[in-house]
Order: sequence, then C-alpha cells, then structure tokens
Amino acid sequence: MNYEELLIQNKQEHLLDYIKYLDEKDQAKKETLIKQIENINYEQMNKLYATTLEMMNPEKALEAAFVEHLPFTNRAKLTKAEYKKIFAVGKEIITNNQLAIVTMAGGQGTRLGHNGPKGTFLLDVKPEPKYLFQIIVEDLLHAKEEYGVYLNWYIMTSNENNKMTTDFLEEHNYFGYPTDHVKIFVQGDLPLLDEQGKLIVNKDYEIKVASDGNGCIYKSMADEGIIDDMKAKGIEWVFVGSVDNALVKNVDPILIGLTKIEGNEIGSKSIAKAYPQERVGVFCKKNGHPAVIEYSEIPEEMTEEVDEDGELLYGEANIMNHVYTLNAIEKISKEELPYHSAHKKADMTMVDGTVIKATEPNAYKYEAFIFDGFKFFNNMTLVRGVRENEFAPVKNAEGKDSPATAVELYNNYWKL
Ligand code: UTP
Repeated sequence: MNYEELLIQNKQEHLLDYIKYLDEKDQAKKETLIKQIENINYEQMNKLYATTLEMMNPEKALEAAFVEHLPFTNRAKLTKAEYKKIFAVGKEIITNNQLAIVTMAGGQGTRLGHNGPKGTFLLDVKPEPKYLFQIIVEDLLHAKEEYGVYLNWYIMTSNENNKMTTDFLEEHNYFGYPTDHVKIFVQGDLPLLDEQGKLIVNKDYEIKVASDGNGCIYKSMADEGIIDDMKAKGIEWVFVGSVDNALVKNVDPILIGLTKIEGNEIGSKSIAKAYPQERVGVFCKKNGHPAVIEYSEIPEEMTEEVDEDGELLYGEANIMNHVYTLNAIEKISKEELPYHSAHKKADMTMVDGTVIKATEPNAYKYEAFIFDGFKFFNNMTLVRGVRENEFAPVKNAEGKDSPATAVELYNNYWKL
C-alpha cells in the first residue's frame, strides 16, 4: 500500500496536505515525512486510540482486578543475624560482578522542563553542584570502594536524547567511571495522537513521536543486544533504577540478597507512604500477581485499610528500585506489555508552518510502565527502606519533588 492509501485507510488524510505543501517547498523533508508515514504501525495506533476512549471511564482500569496486599520485609526490623545472612548473599553476587546496573534515562522530563536530558540537570548540592548522572557515578564508585569491583553500567536513552546524553558523558569523561564498563542503549518511540486520534506534525515537518515508556526497557534490552552482552559478561542479576533520584542506592546487597533467599526472580525496594492519600503508586497483588497500582486507580477506602499492627495494607510506595534475574528480564522481553495513555501538552505545526503552542493538555502519549512486567511472576520480594535514605526525586520544576526538595534531602543524608 502506498502512503496515500495508508493515510486514507487510517483516517490520517490531513497529512496529505503537509506532503502537498512540502512538495513545493522542501523535497528532503517530504521524503522523510513519507518514510515516517510508511513505517507507522497503524493497527497498533488505532487500537491505542480506541483504548484511550474506553479508559476515559476511570473505574474501568480496576474493574476486573482483584487486589490484595503484597507482603514486605521492613529492613529496619531485621535482626542483626538476619541482616548479616542476607547481606552476605547479596555481597557475594556483587563481588563476583554478577550484578549489572541499568539507569533509565529515556524519559522526556516534561514536568522538570530542563533543556536537555534529565541526567544532565545540575543539582545545587553542597559542597558543590552535581549533575544527576554524576551522582549515579559517585554511587557506583562507592560500590567499587566497598566491594572491589567496577559493576557494569547500562544507560537507557531515547532517540530524542541519546546524542545529547552520549556527548555529555563523553565531555565529562563519564565522571571517572571506566568506559569499558559503560554501555548506552536506545529505547523505541511511538507517535503522539491529538484528541481526535490524528497524528501530529512537529516544527521540522516530522510526525511527533515520544519515547514509548520505561516499560519498553525489557524489549529494548533484548533488541539492542544488552541481554546478550550481559550473558557474555556472566551477569545474573540486574538492578534497574531511574535517573532522577538523587539518593538512589544502585548497589544494595540486602535487596538482592533477600530476593535470592526468597527464591524470587524479581524484587523491589519500597518506602512507607507518608500519609494514606499520598499520590504515589503502591505495591499490591493484582489478580494473583505482583503489581503497582497508581494513586488514581486505588479506591479511597482501600488507601486507609490497615493490618493488625496498624500498618497500611497498601502503603508501600514504589520508588523504581527494581531488581531482576537476567532470566526474568529475558522472559518479560518476550511478552506484550500494555500501553497507558497520558494526556499531555504538545505543540502542533500547521501546514503553513504556524506553530500552535499548547497551553493545556491536547494530545495523548502512549507509554508502557516498567512495573507491568511484574505480572508474569507469581511473587516478588519487597524490602521497605527508609525514605530519607533512599528517595530524593527530581520531577517538578518547583514545589513537591523538585530540585529544591532533592537538594535538601541530599544534603541532609550526606550531612553537608
Ligand atoms: P517519569 O515517568 O517520571 O518520566 O520517569 P520523566 O520523563 O522523567 O518525566 P515527565 O513525566 O516527562 O515529567 C521515571 C523514570 O523512567 C525513565 C525516566 O528517564 C526516569 O528515569 N523513562 C521514562 C524512560 O527511561 N523512558 C521513558 O519512556 C519514560
């Protein structure tokens, strides 16, 4: 089918006007646009848009789900003997260099609004400002001091920020981390759709795309040869964390050790919700499998349910500190993960080049979520850590979870 037929069949005829315009103005851009049009998976996009319309009913998402408490281990309550035993198991994996670290850095960071990849954001901590990538490297260098090994570090970027990320890390000499232990890979992307389900054009007359969500990490690791690379290096465990937590502990023997001892293939570190209505995703079991439910999905009465000790039943907040066996990552990479739609602001370019700036959300972005990979397992290990030691997110430009709050948490933790 040629591009014209494709567009007509999929109700995207508006793009024909752009092609007609470019035919007179810019042949190279016209060719690029046509190539993009030919490469879109319309069946997938049509399905995604149909699901968006269906999901406008907020009850729908949780309708068929049976939600239960997911047990966790409170690290602060481990006895000395338990701690020692778990630590030893985790330490052995680390010192044998069987643990790899993956940093997810493919997000757009729209809420922060920083001009560049989030990892290149300079956080004004004491005694001197540090980039988010630098903070991660320092954490890995601490692990080198502690366990005597340079762990292999993988960074997931997007088509949009891969070059900027690579250039930045090169320029800063990877903040002293040995480059033979660093690999950068690229995740995929998907087109955005406007509220009528139409493809959007950007200022370069290309179809506007965005990274396809951190849940695509599994498939990207398979497609980009990362799983094979890890196998070749004898790696058996993988920690996956986000780029935007200034207190991330990438190398945690307790999390890895306990996951192994409990015979699980996946594990995660949580923190206790600050208060029942806190707007965070929490761990649970959904239809018998480990999951995270978003604050928008959880019914009001469930947020306040407690156990006999007065602990919230759904109080373990997800901070994206996940650990997997490499086999688990490979298993998930072969499965289909659902896409979730987010209503976002997207500037749009009209045929004549006029850009319409978005002031309100006007488009749908499709993302897979990393925690949707948990459902392919019957159980997972959950370790509760201490919020002040583990979590200093940089999400928003101001207010909650902003550089200002992260700086304070960072300085307090390091007693600076
Ligand atoms: P968020 O979901 O907070 O998104 O990502 P974000 O891109 O940082 O920020 P907003 O929502 O646009 O403001 C959590 C982690 O997942 C990574 C991010 O880089 C961050 O480390 N991520 C997100 C990806 O690697 N790829 C994606 O497609 C999305």
